[in-house]
Amino acid sequence: MPRLPDLPTRRPGGGAVQVIAITGGKGGTGKTTVAVNLATALAQAGRRVLLLDGDLGLANVDVLLGLAPTHTLEQVVSGAVRLEEIIQHTPEGVSVVPAASGVARMARLKPAEHAAIVRGFAALPGDYETLIVDTATGIGESVLSFCQAAQQLLLVLRNEPASLTDAYALIKVLSREHQLRSFRVLVNMARSGADACQLFQRLQRVTDRYLEVRLEYAGEIPDDSDVASAVRSQRTVLGAYPGSPAARAYRRLAQDALGWPLPALPSGRLEFFFERLLARPAARLQVVQ
Ligand SMILES: Nc1ncnc2c1ncn2[C@@H]1O[C@H](COP(=O)(O)OP(=O)(O)OP(=O)(O)O)[C@@H](O)[C@H]1O
Ligand SMILES: [Mg+2]
Repeated sequence: MPRLPDLPTRRPGGGAVQVIAITGGKGGTGKTTVAVNLATALAQAGRRVLLLDGDLGLANVDVLLGLAPTHTLEQVVSGAVRLEEIIQHTPEGVSVVPAASGVARMARLKPAEHAAIVRGFAALPGDYETLIVDTATGIGESVLSFCQAAQQLLLVLRNEPASLTDAYALIKVLSREHQLRSFRVLVNMARSGADACQLFQRLQRVTDRYLEVRLEYAGEIPDDSDVASAVRSQRTVLGAYPGSPAARAYRRLAQDALGWPLPALPSGRLEFFFERLLARPAARLQVVQ
């Protein structure tokens, strides 16, 4: 008989959580790098940040952060461990939910297990203010589910033709089929500010013409060899190379993100993100194993 988490205890002062899904359509645009570095920059700015690995394929977040989780959400679902026991903490103060295989399993939860996960997040200590979700490549059901459950989307674009067309395809399906209207766009591996801005404008021209969406430019992260070096040593660029151009750009992005609006409604609480993620039959997570 699975051990279910205790009944929720409302966190004192536990309020709305800013949920940011990092997405991008195309593979290799830097989604996971952006997720871990934005999470780190926000934590360094004083935010209490939880990072969820939503990539059902490889557990990229763990790899990039040099973490070696012993459990994932899978064991929480089966009742073997409690949610807080699986959470890992980075030296820079980010809490990480190593979720990869567990998220796939979450597609087939029985109602009691589903309720247990949602209660687990409701009762989670830590009083998190921001949840960052790293999503997989493409426009599979899992990506769409995460984007729909989050309130804010940060689309990572890169200067290459396939990145533009894939980003457009993702925005199209999210707006037409899932009624999402507002997207923030970050240009990664930018050669210059002007180049990045032009890329954003190219995307905006097509979305303005064919879709009813609002794109907001979230700035750029420069192409910086220190990012690749940090990835190789399984560290964040903020931790390994705090003076690098990319680290400075991430700190700027985090300062902006601190000003992005927080949800005012009770539905903005952490557990409701998971409720939305797991509830809708139409948005069931694709099982990848
Ligand atoms: N600002 C940058 N400058 C230089 N290289 C970068 C930068 N950001 C990311 N990279 C490189 O791009 C590689 C791919 O990044 P990452 O794994 O974050 O992409 P992804 O979009 O998550 O890929 P996937 O689709 O496989 O999940 C990283 O290993 C890193 O070396
Ligand atoms: Mg990734």
